[in-house]
Amino acid sequence: MKLSLLLGLVGASLVNADVPAFRGSPFKLKESISAPSTGWVKGSAAQLDTVLTFQIGLSRPRFGELEQNLMEISDPSHARYGVHLSKDDVLELMAPQSDTQEVVAEWLALYGLNETSVSYSSAKDAMTLSAPVRVAESMFNTSFYVYSHADSGDSLVRTTQYSLPEVLDDHIALVQPLVMLASLGQVAKPTPSSAGGPTPLTPTQDVNSTAVDPSCNYQITPDCLRQLYNIGNYTPSANGGSAIAVSEFENEWANFTDYDTFLAENVPSAAAGSNFSIVSVTGGVNNQSEPGGEASLDVQYAFGLTRPLPATFYTVGGSPYSSNWTFSTGLLDLADFLLNQTDLPPVISTSYGEDETTVTSAQANRICQGFAALGARGMSVLFSSGDYGVGYPSGSPVAFTVHFPASCPYVTSVGMTTGIHEVAGNIDNEVSSGGGFSTIFPRPSYQDEQVSDYLTYLGDQYSGLYNSSGRGYPDVSAQGINFLVEIYGYKSNETGTSASVPTFAGVIALLNDARSNAGKSTLGFLNPWLYSSGYSALNDITEGTNPGAGTNGFNATKGWDPLTGLGTPDFAKLQALVLA
Ligand SMILES: *[C@@H]1O[C@H](CO)[C@@H](O)[C@H](O)[C@H]1NC(C)=O
Ligand SMILES: *[C@@H]1O[C@H](CO)[C@@H](O)[C@H](O)[C@H]1NC(C)=O
Ligand SMILES: *[C@@H]1O[C@H](CO)[C@@H](O)[C@H](O)[C@H]1NC(C)=O
Ligand SMILES: *[C@@H]1O[C@H](CO)[C@@H](O)[C@H](O)[C@H]1NC(C)=O
Ligand SMILES: *[C@@H]1O[C@H](CO)[C@@H](O)[C@H](O)[C@H]1NC(C)=O
Ligand SMILES: *[C@@H]1O[C@H](CO)[C@@H](O)[C@H](O)[C@H]1NC(C)=O
Ligand SMILES: *[C@@H]1O[C@H](CO)[C@@H](O)[C@H](O)[C@H]1NC(C)=O
Ligand SMILES: *[C@@H]1O[C@H](CO)[C@@H](O)[C@H](O)[C@H]1NC(C)=O
Ligand SMILES: *[C@@H]1O[C@H](CO)[C@@H](O)[C@H](O)[C@H]1NC(C)=O
Ligand SMILES: *[C@@H]1O[C@H](CO)[C@@H](O)[C@H](O)[C@H]1NC(C)=O
Ligand SMILES: *[C@@H]1O[C@H](CO)[C@@H](O)[C@H](O)[C@H]1NC(C)=O
Repeated sequence: MKLSLLLGLVGASLVNADVPAFRGSPFKLKESISAPSTGWVKGSAAQLDTVLTFQIGLSRPRFGELEQNLMEISDPSHARYGVHLSKDDVLELMAPQSDTQEVVAEWLALYGLNETSVSYSSAKDAMTLSAPVRVAESMFNTSFYVYSHADSGDSLVRTTQYSLPEVLDDHIALVQPLVMLASLGQVAKPTPSSAGGPTPLTPTQDVNSTAVDPSCNYQITPDCLRQLYNIGNYTPSANGGSAIAVSEFENEWANFTDYDTFLAENVPSAAAGSNFSIVSVTGGVNNQSEPGGEASLDVQYAFGLTRPLPATFYTVGGSPYSSNWTFSTGLLDLADFLLNQTDLPPVISTSYGEDETTVTSAQANRICQGFAALGARGMSVLFSSGDYGVGYPSGSPVAFTVHFPASCPYVTSVGMTTGIHEVAGNIDNEVSSGGGFSTIFPRPSYQDEQVSDYLTYLGDQYSGLYNSSGRGYPDVSAQGINFLVEIYGYKSNETGTSASVPTFAGVIALLNDARSNAGKSTLGFLNPWLYSSGYSALNDITEGTNPGAGTNGFNATKGWDPLTGLGTPDFAKLQALVLA
């Protein structure tokens, strides 16, 4: 049935406190949090006529099927390896069950909410709408308050729990943003580490690394990465089928002149006219007058290493703490936007993240499912593992902080290293490679063996501070300290796993080029391959720690570890492996 017909029956039915129970169904608690995110203080009751914009995430009953497909097409030993799903197939597997839209529309109509106020996501698995607080309070059987953030002066209308009529429990996965969780400017961004800043550990020179310029111990350039990762002068073909993308949030932009200057000075082989295209997601722009460290770093390395591959810069709109935006909704918007495209770049690098405690389990799962869907389309989705080791500085041992979406099992998360004799990245024990174990996502089977081995090595050290049954991250790593970056005509040093992700993504884009030229599919979701055979072509990093949370952090060791993952890339070896 069409939504409008249904709603016609109800017309402009008045909303008041006596809305009848939907289909006689009592309210059932959907989500609750014990407290708002740190730094946010509950104030007065929200004004009843304040308009809230929220998204109703409809359940995806076929997600299990999607996941099964994803695992098969990402497993090199499976007959379907590399047979990525089409846009229509994926949208169908993400769609709600057939009667969901109708049932939900019937419920919305009780509150006078009609089709004109609802917009649907690509897979029709989410509805975005607005309603005044007075209506939302009765829809969700809750009370909204104004929460303020003292440091920034921002305020948001939120609650700590909400309910839905029980008959909708199976139809609706979650509604957001309703609960008061928000990251506090901890969205990972590179740390400018220019003059006066901390100096990196001075790694011992590896006597066997004579091929790598010693200056790479202090200053990373594209040439350093080519030497360290055995890329040589491999140059991909512009039209071979490979491509690369970065995504940016929170008003991070890149200036074209900076990119040109960077290429001219650091990638002398670059043909004139190397460029990237800007694609706007939910109103994102790219203001040339305000380039940022993150965006500049991302384009200069992800694109600089892989030129002349087609390069796309997705700029996602929305500012922190605006009433209808959080980093989580930005991630949902990005995934939904990409799922609606017919052609997708096979690799996307994203250097953002937040503490896993700033999302509910339902929110984290929702976002992570979107990345699984992109993986099923054949995309390698890479995220940074965070820059604060196992947690923020603390005087005594406290529970380790987990970084999300790095902790999502359907993304490839990238930690950092430093030095030409590579060790885990760490500057003065203040900035170090993020890593650990999710408290939301259980350990996926593809990493069972390697993560179990590490847990055996660890024994009972840190027990109680981390969740040993959670998904271990990062999966891999790459250099992350002192990357030379051009920003608004100036040279800057940028540091963090933010630098490691575009580097690793660049190597994957080059491998996709090699495979495309050989008539093979692009690599798609990487983890099942990385943990089953890909690791053999990585440099295992066995030294260094990632301190934090009042501890020395984890140790890098032989095999997988929660700071450098399976290791850093060796392009020549990887190329041989993926062409075999
Ligand atoms: C739909 O909702 C909008 C805003 O709530 C209202 O202005 C409009 O009159 C409604 N339309 C119908 C057909 O009820
Ligand atoms: C998805 O793309 C189609 C065109 O292919 C467009 O009509 C539709 O509005 C898009 N959906 C969303 C949610 O952007
Ligand atoms: C929740 O619903 C119950 C009846 O189902 C009602 O008594 C109560 O006032 C509602 N609470 C809020 C906060 O709306
Ligand atoms: C250098 O290579 C030699 C021979 O392969 C090996 O024995 C030695 O351990 C290597 N040194 C280092 C520091 O890796
Ligand atoms: C790159 O693309 C942008 C936007 O299309 C354009 O303004 C700029 O001039 C281009 N740069 C080069 C070197 O072609
Ligand atoms: C871009 O940034 C500049 C400098 O802050 C500002 O003056 C200008 O209005 C911005 N342009 C747009 C289109 O927002
Ligand atoms: C872009 O950056 C260059 C420096 O690399 C600067 O000269 C130019 O003014 C910037 N563009 C804008 C529109 O601000
Ligand atoms: C937030 O809501 C406003 C209007 O309600 C809308 O214009 C804007 O696009 C929304 N932003 C996002 C990121 O959804
Ligand atoms: C540990 O992880 C498991 C698997 O994800 C989860 O079910 C459990 O709730 C977590 N426990 C804690 C204390 O976080
Ligand atoms: C990690 O390394 C430190 C320093 O070498 C050592 O004291 C500690 O025992 C190691 N941890 C494990 C689990 O071996
Ligand atoms: C980056 O830091 C290194 C090590 O301190 C230093 O040698 C180099 O000159 C710095 N580069 C820039 C652009 O500041």
